[in-house]
Amino acid sequence: MPEPANHLHFFKFMTLATSDSLHAIRGAFLDFIGDPFHGDEFSSVRYLPDGLMILGEGKILALDSYEALQNSYSHIPTTAYPDKLIMPGFIDTHIHYPQYEIIAAYGEQLLSWLNKYIFPTEQKFSHKAYAQKIASLFFDELLRHGTTTALVFATVHPESVDAFFEEAEQRKMRMISGKVLMDRNAPEYLRDTPESAYEESKKLIQKWHKKGRLLYAITPRFAPTCSNKQLHLAGKLLQEFPDVYLHTHLSENVKEIEWVAELFPESTGYLDVYDRAGLVGERSVFAHGIHLTNAEFRRLSETRATIAFCPTSNLFLGSGLFKLSQAKSPDYPVKVGLGTDVGAGTSFSILHTAHEAYKVVQLQGESLSAFKGLFLATLGGAKALLLEDKIGNFDVGKEADLIVLDPQATPVMATRTQKFPAVSLEDLAQKLFGMMMLGDDRAIHAVYIAGELAHCRTS
Ligand code: GUN
Ligand code: ZN
Repeated sequence: MPEPANHLHFFKFMTLATSDSLHAIRGAFLDFIGDPFHGDEFSSVRYLPDGLMILGEGKILALDSYEALQNSYSHIPTTAYPDKLIMPGFIDTHIHYPQYEIIAAYGEQLLSWLNKYIFPTEQKFSHKAYAQKIASLFFDELLRHGTTTALVFATVHPESVDAFFEEAEQRKMRMISGKVLMDRNAPEYLRDTPESAYEESKKLIQKWHKKGRLLYAITPRFAPTCSNKQLHLAGKLLQEFPDVYLHTHLSENVKEIEWVAELFPESTGYLDVYDRAGLVGERSVFAHGIHLTNAEFRRLSETRATIAFCPTSNLFLGSGLFKLSQAKSPDYPVKVGLGTDVGAGTSFSILHTAHEAYKVVQLQGESLSAFKGLFLATLGGAKALLLEDKIGNFDVGKEADLIVLDPQATPVMATRTQKFPAVSLEDLAQKLFGMMMLGDDRAIHAVYIAGELAHCRTS
């Protein structure tokens, strides 16, 4: 297919990898080299209908058209994926692994849902063996859905963090997690203290942060379950370890916001509670942000903080509609990633999450194109987590986490997407939109983690 010159990128590489350790993947490749929310959508896309990617030592060593690279690499083992589409692994910027088993709990909104279903479930994670069992199931499920990196809530128990990171380490996945902090307004069995939370988090940071591909997030659950003292000690920890993340919830539900105003009368708003504790910065990820004021959007923009947009959760708990267009406004842009927020979210699938994001945006009179949705699912998520130098697209040197999508995964998808590869970017946009609206775990044919096959769909 004829492509504009700027869609063809030829990468030469210098590497110490011996040719024995190299392997190649051939197929149609799609990734993003820019932000389709700003400027021309098509120039944010890199599409190679017949490409060759060279992998070695867990990294992407070269990518170009098959024609351009075939002679140089004819001797290395090659896996071909005809009629498929290869993309960077999906990035989930907000999910709770301990809520795996309580997904789809009936009939409540946020605060009663937490009390009725979530807190009793999280109690089980004081037992390491139980946490290990669920962590293993959780990672299987992430892979089945094409998610290769996630920012993940554990529970208040340090054992739950150890179990999570041990599993992630074994699978060589780039993962971010941390111990939940909560010292009030939760059952006794789930409460820590400001001091114990500080000490335990510090030990876990020293144990896990930057170990292999693992990263740590200081994780106050949300303002209602944290005393001011606890939030301030979390801020102190963040100052002591400035390259860890801060991960929490913000402005999800109207009753929650009213409660925060009662609990923190000195604050000017919900975000201000975190701001006063030194918790708002470029490594801070706030889940939801549905009912933010204009001033709060502005403050998030100034501080370069991130919002995790979790549409399936926001609809399931009846929380509200996230204002994506305000977050993406050119005047005060706020970084946004997609989050499933399982167990309030109803699907592990980032494809399905993008589908629900489309509907949330439609209810506000706008649309979300497939390129925008899939940008949020990949490079946008990487930027939201400040990981765009490592993951998110196929730039040479990045970690080789990739997924092989099957546009023909179901009979209706096969009919809707028709022949693949696409013959133009317009055609690709149409086919991808069909995949975004119809796809889920069935559309994830294979997953590579750090260059190795980690999942292959069998039926
Ligand atoms: N706010 C505080 N805790 C939680 C949680 O576990 N899930 C969601 N969706 N919101 C929260
Ligand atoms: Zn959440």
